Amino acid sequence: MEGSRLRIADCGLRHFSMSWPALLALTPASSEHRPQPSPPCPMSAYPLFDAHPRLAALPRAGIFQTPTAVRALPGYDGAWVKRDDLSNSEFGGNKIRKLDLLLGEAQAQRRRCLLAFGYSGSNFVAASAWHGRRLGLDTIGLLLPQAGAPYVADNLATCAAAGAELALGQSSAGLVSQALARSLRRLATQGRWPYWMPPGGSTPLGALGFVNAAYELRAQIEAGLCPEPERITVAFSSMGTVAGLAIGLALAGLRSRVVAVQVVSTQFATPAKLDRLIAQTQALLRRYDPAIPTRAAAVEIRTEFYGQDYAVPTAATTAAMQAFQQASGARGDSAYSGKALAGYYADLQRGLPGPSLYWHTFNAERRPRGVSPLPPERLRGYLLGDRC
Ligand SMILES: Cc1ncc(COP(=O)(O)O)c(C=O)c1O
Repeated sequence: MEGSRLRIADCGLRHFSMSWPALLALTPASSEHRPQPSPPCPMSAYPLFDAHPRLAALPRAGIFQTPTAVRALPGYDGAWVKRDDLSNSEFGGNKIRKLDLLLGEAQAQRRRCLLAFGYSGSNFVAASAWHGRRLGLDTIGLLLPQAGAPYVADNLATCAAAGAELALGQSSAGLVSQALARSLRRLATQGRWPYWMPPGGSTPLGALGFVNAAYELRAQIEAGLCPEPERITVAFSSMGTVAGLAIGLALAGLRSRVVAVQVVSTQFATPAKLDRLIAQTQALLRRYDPAIPTRAAAVEIRTEFYGQDYAVPTAATTAAMQAFQQASGARGDSAYSGKALAGYYADLQRGLPGPSLYWHTFNAERRPRGVSPLPPERLRGYLLGDRC
């Protein structure tokens, strides 16, 4: 197999398109560039909860370092970036806002274990494992194969360092039966059913993290840190980020609309599913405070930047990631931020009226400090599923 390209028949990984030597060569030796977290800021971390005090009954884990910075993006007039990659100095990105509420609920319910679904390189599974471990919760990660990309190895190393129990399946149905079997085992050994989280943590509760994020942006606009954007561009996958932002922008009285760049198959993220998640999130808000109106900002879903497959970059993805890294110093990824950036830069180049804001969702760090890359044979084991 040396030097050959893996195909379906080789290992059963449907989407795997990178040769093994290439993937293993990407396993990083060190993390040279360590961006700093956002500077301390007197703004509240929970402006949504300040505005609607009845929501205070919702437990939160307190794992994010917000507000995240908002900065001008050099190269274009009126281009701005919201740096959610700096939402936590160990493992940041957009998942932290959802996990803050999900882990808060898991703690309040006295669960001992989290159960998270995702692709092999899932940012969500890795962030759950890392932050769960910090809070004394184990993680079971149930993974589906995906195209190779550098961040896959980094996230698997993070999961392993956090002691996550990982299993690779070949279909969603297979994963669910694995999840049931492993949950029953935890029930028997720990006396508690694990806290199940869907891919990306996009439950109505998770989405509230992004309703709060929109209030955070409003506070930054009011403080003169950035102008009110005409449009906010962000990756669209398990939909919790877009659903939360759409609701939060409208409730916070901002006129921005959301440009949601599709980064997963249209089988998973659709306008109808987004509408459902928005309605469920609004219903959750109104359960706590019936005076909260059912408003949501307009969302424009853009599918033309997806390309061939999940996490497989197009030429525009690669060019946008490079331009963004040069302009901001922040890294991107081929699955989410690279495709959202391709959409963002395309709109800037078309000269659409601004100001506009790109919401950066990828984790700034390759791996948390002190986490080493996995040895090649262990990485191969995770990717080929011989740990199931
Ligand atoms: C880095 C990154 N950006 C964006 C997204 C998309 O967010 P959502 O799943 O809420 O649509 C994800 C989700 O998996 C992600 O990992």
